[in-house]
Amino acid sequence: MKRKLFLSFFLVFTLLLSACSSDNAGTGEGGGSGKLDIFSWWTGAGEEDGLKALIALFEEKYPDVPIENAAVAGGAGTNAKAVLASRMQGDDPPATFQVHGGAELNDGWVAAGKMETLNDLYESEGWNDKFPESLIEMVSKDGNIYSVPVNIHRGNVLWYNKKVLDENGLQAPKTFDEFFQVADALKEKGITPLALGDKEPWTATHLFETVLLGTLGTEDYQKLFAGELTWDDAKVKEAAETFKRMLEYVNEDHSSRNWQDASQLVGNGEAAMNVMGDWAKGYFANDLKLAVNEDFGYVAAPGTDGQFMVITDTFGLPKGLSNADDVKKFLGVLGSVEGQDAFNPLKGSIPARIDADISKYDQYGKDTIEDFKSAELAPSLAHGSAAPEGFVTKVNQAINIFVTQGNVDDFVNSLK
Ligand code: BGC
Repeated sequence: MKRKLFLSFFLVFTLLLSACSSDNAGTGEGGGSGKLDIFSWWTGAGEEDGLKALIALFEEKYPDVPIENAAVAGGAGTNAKAVLASRMQGDDPPATFQVHGGAELNDGWVAAGKMETLNDLYESEGWNDKFPESLIEMVSKDGNIYSVPVNIHRGNVLWYNKKVLDENGLQAPKTFDEFFQVADALKEKGITPLALGDKEPWTATHLFETVLLGTLGTEDYQKLFAGELTWDDAKVKEAAETFKRMLEYVNEDHSSRNWQDASQLVGNGEAAMNVMGDWAKGYFANDLKLAVNEDFGYVAAPGTDGQFMVITDTFGLPKGLSNADDVKKFLGVLGSVEGQDAFNPLKGSIPARIDADISKYDQYGKDTIEDFKSAELAPSLAHGSAAPEGFVTKVNQAINIFVTQGNVDDFVNSLK
């Protein structure tokens, strides 16, 4: 225990040190070095490819504005968010940073008075009718807009290895009952049914929230976050039971893998399925060089057909920067059709804009663009849209305990 604690301190210390010692040590200039430092957690295959394409496009358009990729590794911002918090507290904000639309932005940095409004940018770029209203709402508070969505990720996707299912005469499951039937059949043949990598606990939260959505449906799922349904409701317990049952089918070494390592198990056929946001598609395609609908397939996670767990990565303008005009140039590129179409086909997400060039997207992207238009939309908990960061951190801790101990009542009580 002590050793673990020491390692955690050491990690945070190292991260803080590396953030301070970069040539960006700041003076409120969006990096201080005069460079535009673009802060995110996109360092993995697909994620990084998308970011680099965006930066390259910016450099082509503004060769005189030096720009720097200041990404900090760790899925779902596991480490980046701590580094960002310390920079923001020290009045050393990055030029712009990745933040999820919804509570993470609005109840976090906006409520803390750390963000500039971007109403004028939306006006000058003519963006007000170029993003879906639902998305603009996610980046607005009290009638002001605070960030620019670069994408829409779908969280509730079940990915599967086509060959593994085909060879075993199995169809991708659409309901929980089907899931358990398929999982039993696979287990009998010695194949790991479900890949999980919860070394970073958010991946288990991610799986749980899709089970929650599949069990409660969009309306009740949303009621949980509006305080209209309590966390010890019978349906939440049912979801916890189902989640627990699903955990019986995961790879034994789940706690030593991250989301990429877990996706890799599916990609190379060591496991049959995983539930992950569609950044996994960016990983399958860019890292493992697998083809959509040939090597791997996708369906909505069990019970969630017609529902869309929305995750949107957005970038805003921190207060107090002396190079705000340059930051707005970057946001202008990020919010443009060209920018979104350079970024999203690599990232695995769909464009946030409604007028993007659909021909640039593979079949998964095309299907998802269509699904988004008609599906019921639900905000992701694991990815900061449904509830503020402090709550998400506590849920991650509760899930982490639940994965090892499996006590439904304790789990539900801690959620409550
Ligand atoms: C982000 C994605 C990212 C994923 C894994 C999510 O929270 O929204 O952009 O790819 O985490 O790092």
